[in-house]
Amino acid sequence: MPAERPPGGLEGVVVGESAITDVRGGEGMLYYRGYSVPHLAGSVGWEGVVHLLRSGELPTPGETRALREALSARRRSLGDLAPMVRAIPPGATPMEALRSGFSLLGHGWDGFPPTDEMFELLLAFPPVFLPNLWRHRHRQSVLTEPEGLGQAAAYLWRLTGQAPDPRKLAALEAYLVLVADHGMNASTFVARSVLSTWSDPASAMSAAVGSLKGPLHGGAPSLVADFLDRVGTPDRAEEEVEATLGRGERLMGFGHRVYRGEDPRARRLRELARTVASSERMELAEAVERAGLRALARRNPKRPWGLNVEFYAALVLEAAGIPRPLFPPTFALARTAGWVAHLKEQAQHNRLVRPDVRYVGPGPRPLPTPA
Ligand code: COA
Repeated sequence: MPAERPPGGLEGVVVGESAITDVRGGEGMLYYRGYSVPHLAGSVGWEGVVHLLRSGELPTPGETRALREALSARRRSLGDLAPMVRAIPPGATPMEALRSGFSLLGHGWDGFPPTDEMFELLLAFPPVFLPNLWRHRHRQSVLTEPEGLGQAAAYLWRLTGQAPDPRKLAALEAYLVLVADHGMNASTFVARSVLSTWSDPASAMSAAVGSLKGPLHGGAPSLVADFLDRVGTPDRAEEEVEATLGRGERLMGFGHRVYRGEDPRARRLRELARTVASSERMELAEAVERAGLRALARRNPKRPWGLNVEFYAALVLEAAGIPRPLFPPTFALARTAGWVAHLKEQAQHNRLVRPDVRYVGPGPRPLPTPA
């Protein structure tokens, strides 16, 4: 009897153990170290989640302060990154630039396991590099944020040169918390695989960003915003959804590999979007949500359809003032929290990642005799 075919995309395959994030797809629940993620968003800041994911426990106020100060010092130590920013080809997307940026940051990083200093630099890098790249491309001067800010506020400050609106900052911070980690997704698996060879954590991050770039993983929120623009008004939602599916294209922000039904982060992001998005944008998004779910259910009624994290992320990010091309790398900025925690866990229990594949090509055969 022929052996059963392995599942495509490693779906359902357990590749190891982790004590970081518990993704309960069937129940539509998500926990970081046992704490419900939608509840963490809004009550713990991103630095608190970095600490939680890395150490296993929520930080004391003193520990949060210490981490904020350490990351703030690392951001300053990076300087203006001008040579690096100038080295990025002008045609590179910000996500491609971030992938290259991590790679350049890690020159000369040798030795295993990675140090805490490396991890802190990797966390501090995106909120400096992305605004500096953005401003360089728009011929604006580079900015340094005032003392005492967390990563989210520093990121907005360095982008705009203004103190962020507290409501928008809170929404961005909650978004960063919601997407800080998500179990053994493609980019995390890639990052852990790279580190397992005793490579450096910047190489792991660079590879992870390359993986997150794909629209099936993390590249969708800017595409959601583009789609909403294309729809324009709520009354056109149905028509545009049908046209998109009719062309065989996917609706961005809908469906998930693990969650059957709605992604719990989508629910929280919808609530957050209501606090910051304009009522017109919200009505448009809700009309697209309804039309999309109806159309997908009609085509595939057996599968319980729901939104994923990317759909309302688009509204939160645009309302927070993040330029659309920076949506994907802002996701990456948030996810550095999870990648660092996973790299630390990988280093603690390392074994070279080297799975098998079933060979299905031709059997051994002789070389053709020369004519
Ligand atoms: N729009 C239209 N069709 C979709 C769809 C979507 N958003 N998501 C899945 N499908 C369809 C697929 O085309 C496929 O149809 P087929 O069997 O006729 O080929 C079927 O549903 C199963 O899709 P599959 O790719 O096996 O599901 P998955 O569980 O691996 O996919 C996603 C999960 C997220 C990759 C998928 O839902 C998707 O592409 N969503 C849109 C992109 C997106 O929002 N990405 C962000 C992810 S957080």
